[in-house]
Amino acid sequence: MAHIQIENLSITYQSPQDGKPFVAVDSVNLTIDQGEFVTIVGSSGCGKSSMLMAIDGLIAKEGRVLVNGREVNAPGPERAMVFQEFALMPWRSVLQNVLFGLELQRWKGGDRIKRARHYVNLVGLSGFEDYYPHQLSGGMRQRVGIARALAVDPEILLMDEPFGALDAQTRDVMGDELLKIWDREKKTALFVTHSIDEAIFLGDRVVVMQKGPGRIKVVIKIDFPRPRAVELRDEPEFATYRRRIRDLLSTEVQELQRIKEDSHG
Ligand SMILES: Nc1ncnc2c1ncn2[C@@H]1O[C@H](COP(=O)(O)OP(=O)(O)OP(=O)(O)O)[C@@H](O)[C@H]1O
Ligand SMILES: [Mg+2]
Repeated sequence: MAHIQIENLSITYQSPQDGKPFVAVDSVNLTIDQGEFVTIVGSSGCGKSSMLMAIDGLIAKEGRVLVNGREVNAPGPERAMVFQEFALMPWRSVLQNVLFGLELQRWKGGDRIKRARHYVNLVGLSGFEDYYPHQLSGGMRQRVGIARALAVDPEILLMDEPFGALDAQTRDVMGDELLKIWDREKKTALFVTHSIDEAIFLGDRVVVMQKGPGRIKVVIKIDFPRPRAVELRDEPEFATYRRRIRDLLSTEVQELQRIKEDSHG
């Protein structure tokens, strides 16, 4: 059975300009297997965040999202979201931020503090338990967000550009570490990124989206074995994937440009 099944998912907002309905995501279908790592790329505004929020049950949608065959319409303990903006509580220390997820879910699976410490260690932050978010670097804050999501032991990790605010080197290191954790913890992952390289390196499949309205353009299977090492990015096959996805995204930009020009004259 598919772990996540997305059927005819559409998301309509009310335009703040004229109050008219605005279709941000249109009839998306996608099936994700247990333990699969799926990455999503697409130009800004194509509905990536909206899609993730709908899967988490945070916003209204049409269509259905099934997890283990059961329809979900609200957040649940089997899904955890890592947001782009670190979304940490500034008045709580690293350990307390990780504990928060467990408190929220009234975690009963044993010693909460021990568990929180375990995940702080797992993301490489041991020794920083008592630091506050403003005393951490962006990469460290992002690690706290990941530890908080993992601590509640979700089956599914929804990640919305979790490394968006990081420099290229830190990003590569974090991606590498995330793969190791994912491999050990056997999660299903849905990961949004603007980096084509990151999408290829992390993904079993890359979902390329288009906008106006937001749809899936193509899904590309990435045939690299795991575990994957950073050197993979220098392989000719990697460059082939990169070129293909870049071309798909740039035709998208050109098409949008043409529509804009047509409508102006
Ligand atoms: N609450 C809202 N009300 C009205 N329109 C919205 C709302 N949230 C998002 N939108 C619109 O829906 C579209 C998709 O937004 P979304 O944030 O899902 O895009 P995205 O693909 O995540 O973009 P980015 O890559 O910039 O993060 C955009 O045109 C945006 O203006
Ligand atoms: Mg977004």
